[in-house]
Amino acid sequence: MAILKVAKLGHPITRAVAQPVPLEAIQTKEFQGFIDDMIETIHEYDGVGLAATQVHVPAQIAVLEVQGNPRYPRAPEVPLTVLINPKIVSASKERVEDWEGCLSVIDFRGKVPRHREVKVQAYDREGKPLQFTAKDFHARVIQHECDHLNGKVFLDRMPSLETLTYLAEFARYWQGR
Ligand code: NI
Repeated sequence: MAILKVAKLGHPITRAVAQPVPLEAIQTKEFQGFIDDMIETIHEYDGVGLAATQVHVPAQIAVLEVQGNPRYPRAPEVPLTVLINPKIVSASKERVEDWEGCLSVIDFRGKVPRHREVKVQAYDREGKPLQFTAKDFHARVIQHECDHLNGKVFLDRMPSLETLTYLAEFARYWQGR
């Protein structure tokens, strides 16, 4: 296991479009080791989601977990989930605006509108097909991670940069709003 280096905005890999993972690769020791490393990395940096492009691998893999996270103390829990080749197959018309941050866009938070509900198809780390509907913060994290796999970051989704704030100022003026 290893903690992977997280690419910061400006590194070209954060703008790369990830390629689908061939299903026969999923069971390999190398691939499973990489998933373990992504999990160790998301834990190390208190992330709620991590896309493979953020750790310099342009493959369609995302890891999510929300559990007593100090960076998002009010967020509802999401169990550890590995999504391989995730696709948002449908999304609610309704959108909600809320704060997001990103391990590749350090020290910033900003308000981003996202679909309230999304239907997702993906494969799990055993290569089994997954299909589920995610709502609210869970749906937000999935949209954020799928964006990473398409070379997008949350700043691209902000209709206005007026809510962009540093974390210290976020804690001081905006927490809970
Ligand atoms: Ni991010």
